[in-house]
Amino acid sequence: MKKILIKNAKIVNEGIILEGDVLIEGEFIVEIGESISPKSPETDVIQAEGKYLFPGMIDDQVHFREPGLTHKADLYSESKAAIAGGITSFIEMPNTMPQTTTQVALTEKFQLAAQKSLANYSFMIGGTNDNLDELLQTDPKTVAGIKLFLGSSTGNMLVDNETILEKIFSSVKLLISAHCEDESTIQNHLKKYVETFGDDIPVALHPQIRSSEACYISSSKAVALAQKTGARLHVFHVSTAQEMDLFTNKTPLKDKKITAEVCVHHLWFNDSHYAEKGSLIKWNPAIKSEKHQNALWEALLDDRIDVIATDHAPHTLDEKKKVYTQCPSGAPMVQHALPALLEFYKKGKISLEKIVEKTAHNPAVLFQIDRRGFIKKGYYADLVLVDLSKPWTVNKENILYKCGWSPLEGTTFTSRISHTFVNGNIVYNDGRFKEDIKGKALAFNRPTS
Ligand code: DOR
Repeated sequence: MKKILIKNAKIVNEGIILEGDVLIEGEFIVEIGESISPKSPETDVIQAEGKYLFPGMIDDQVHFREPGLTHKADLYSESKAAIAGGITSFIEMPNTMPQTTTQVALTEKFQLAAQKSLANYSFMIGGTNDNLDELLQTDPKTVAGIKLFLGSSTGNMLVDNETILEKIFSSVKLLISAHCEDESTIQNHLKKYVETFGDDIPVALHPQIRSSEACYISSSKAVALAQKTGARLHVFHVSTAQEMDLFTNKTPLKDKKITAEVCVHHLWFNDSHYAEKGSLIKWNPAIKSEKHQNALWEALLDDRIDVIATDHAPHTLDEKKKVYTQCPSGAPMVQHALPALLEFYKKGKISLEKIVEKTAHNPAVLFQIDRRGFIKKGYYADLVLVDLSKPWTVNKENILYKCGWSPLEGTTFTSRISHTFVNGNIVYNDGRFKEDIKGKALAFNRPTS
């Protein structure tokens, strides 16, 4: 069986950094130690002096647009960008075309990913006002969870029937992840601004339209419903200070029934960036003020927020250049999320151990993913080698997203991913990809009923 020995890396795992070696055999990590010697002349040795070894990031919220929206992105192009960004597994969202709201559509996505994805993958099935029977058939061992849009966003998947919502929360055993923005609050604000500006509303007003109030009304309702029904709720892309009171750090993650995710763009940008970036940073939920951004940081570091994800949501540049009311929300991020987080480390905002906890350990624990997210003997070798002093600048030539742009263009990152391993294979090595080996479907250690 193929063996790879990573020598003298600074291994970042479970709250500590240890210098040592990691031996991979086939798909798995088989030994971790201070000094391991090659087991045979065929062992591939990677000298990693000075580099840091992380468990690969598990991104629990991406939009890869396949099937149906492949002019924006597809499972091959975006998984390749993810690999270059140190993301070894992703969970993809149901607002594709057709929407992933049936078992048939889910099966089709798994088949597409098996043929095309360079990273490991799972999907969410979308809840609607009329697909409870489909939700109830979903296999918890292979499907990451259910996605509910409790506020409309790209793809018209709003679930707004309160009776149905309560039925979903009380009858579905799977993890429910929710996009929380109150629709009537948004529509009221939008109407007011359209009266003043027509379609061409300045994008800096996006956080007034998709306001912090809209977020809080919706997420507090979802949390209350989860508390009432006992559902397992994961609130996606929290973005406001008020919402932070809805989450706790008093319970260990594995026992939490209500968890929260923050996205890299809400940590990186604030409303002062609209002047320069315009609609390139139009996201749902909106990028808000520094006060909200600071509150997200505080809650992330004190563990009220459990995971960091990207909500990678590519659109073409032509689509993003449209007037406010036509311009889709979302931007690509998978290639740049980990480098961006490493900039925060350099600035002293977060430790490497915490980055690994929020990007790899916690998504694995939260979703009960089988043998991933940690650097441990017997676990899949999903690993990332990082050089913390190799600057590079994001530009059109090095962007791998199919849409060909990034809101981070012009940003210089001081850290670079040198190698990404997926299931023991070196799929990314200093700008070169190994594309013949595909990722695997994630498995979940959960009871079937
Ligand atoms: O900004 C966003 N874009 N937020 C979402 O919830 C959906 C996403 C998309 O799919 O474009």
